[in-house]
Amino acid sequence: MPSVLPGSICAPPGLAMPESLFPARQDDAARLAAIDAETNPSPWSADAFRESLARSRGFTVRDDAGVVLGFVVYTAVAGACEILELAVTVRARQRGLGRKLLDAAIEDAVGEGARRCILEVRDSNTAARALYASAGFLVDGRRKAYYRTPEGREDALLMSCDL
Ligand SMILES: CC(C)(COP(=O)(O)OP(=O)(O)OC[C@H]1O[C@@H](n2cnc3c(N)ncnc32)[C@H](O)[C@@H]1OP(=O)(O)O)[C@@H](O)C(=O)NCCC(=O)NCCS
Repeated sequence: MPSVLPGSICAPPGLAMPESLFPARQDDAARLAAIDAETNPSPWSADAFRESLARSRGFTVRDDAGVVLGFVVYTAVAGACEILELAVTVRARQRGLGRKLLDAAIEDAVGEGARRCILEVRDSNTAARALYASAGFLVDGRRKAYYRTPEGREDALLMSCDL
């Protein structure tokens, strides 16, 4: 598992709430599923997170009371980091936590020998696409009608970044 990477962000006065990164644990699975279900049209179950965390790597970001605000689950295999899931709870978004989680996963994967990071994102997911673009990811391709949506299906964009 990744080592603990302590860290904090600066928040405006009144919103001050130091957040720190921790390795994701299997007993975080229910909370991760709850965060995922806030906005993912096809959320992972708690069991799916538990199984994935047994095989993959992950970080959570927690507030100073220990409440998980966001997470990243990823693999670091054969020179590549693959971001499997990344989410921040709605009330903690747009404060830098998504970027902090992505950076932590990449830093850990680079330590494991990764030279490239890959992921898939819904075409309509402007927030995630903005995050990945600002981190240097480029669109490599598109899987047509890959994801189910309440309205039908939508494309997946394949993105990657050389590390
Ligand atoms: C995508 C997500 C993880 C971003 O987390 P976040 O903590 O809000 O992101 P950050 O505050 O770290 O922002 C990172 C960058 O993305 C941009 N961004 C974040 N949300 C945005 C939005 N709604 N619209 C436009 N840009 C946005 C920020 O401006 C920032 O850009 P910068 O680095 O150039 O300043 C979050 O919106 C989320 O959990 N979404 C639901 C789950 C999801 O879609 N996961 C991705 C699956 S592939």
